[in-house]
Amino acid sequence: MHARPVAASITALLGAAALLFPVSPAGAAPAGVPLVVAHRGASGYAPENTLAAVDRAAALGIEWVENDVQRTKDGTLVVVHDDNLRRTTDAEEVFPGRSPWKVKDFTAAEIARLDAGSWFSPSYAGTRVPTLEQFVRRVEKHGQKLLLELKNPELYPGIEQETLKVLSNEGWLDRQHVRDRLVVQSFDAASVRTVHELKPAVKTGLLGTPPVADLPGYAAFADQINPSHSSLTSGYVAAVQSFAGPHGARMQVLTWTVNDAAAARRVAGYGVDGIISNTPDVVRDAVGG
Ligand code: G3P
Ligand code: CA
Repeated sequence: MHARPVAASITALLGAAALLFPVSPAGAAPAGVPLVVAHRGASGYAPENTLAAVDRAAALGIEWVENDVQRTKDGTLVVVHDDNLRRTTDAEEVFPGRSPWKVKDFTAAEIARLDAGSWFSPSYAGTRVPTLEQFVRRVEKHGQKLLLELKNPELYPGIEQETLKVLSNEGWLDRQHVRDRLVVQSFDAASVRTVHELKPAVKTGLLGTPPVADLPGYAAFADQINPSHSSLTSGYVAAVQSFAGPHGARMQVLTWTVNDAAAARRVAGYGVDGIISNTPDVVRDAVGG
């Protein structure tokens, strides 16, 4: 492992750079203001992980969108959070007898028949589970940025390579996307490491709150450590940010899922780099982004 504590001189250099360039490297917010990420799209206002949720985030002026990627029985990458289709689609109704309605047991054509909007509101009836390709194209159309989560990768061997292939096909692995518009994250450290090894230029994030003692190891392949806000402390944020990630910049902290102004101000006070929210407009207004 080759983690390097960020030297004081580097910190001073970054401070000077912030004065010269008063926007974050992601171009999303003034220096010191956390960037705001629409969690599963703007999922407080539209059905999660759908194109409608991406559109809603764009309408709110939110640049960063988070999603969850899994794989169908016949190998198509789709955007859905749970490992089964029960909560966010009408799979039980459309396919009775297919219990437990696991994503991995349905073909892409079968999933394309499902209604992924009515559970949220009748006004979203007919909304579909998007493929990753469709999702990326919609994010691109809006000029947004993508925090892509590999969800349950242990269920889908090879999903890291397949995800990178879709991103490559869609033009998301060119220099500009990789530098400013894409982060791939997972709760599964092995999966994050695999993404880094397959495509070292791609920024990565490890979800969770690993012990501080383990951070040097993770800094070898993760640019971000992205913890739940519930147990977050300013000390933990500072500890993460004291290391340089695999691309030489200090590691970042994006915390989730913060949906009210008070919590947003609290974590902003801890110095987090980003806040992931179902109601990103509320968070943005609270932290002044
Ligand atoms: O991006 C962070 C967050 O999405 C992780 O939790 O369960 O919503 O995927 P979850
Ligand atoms: Ca997620």
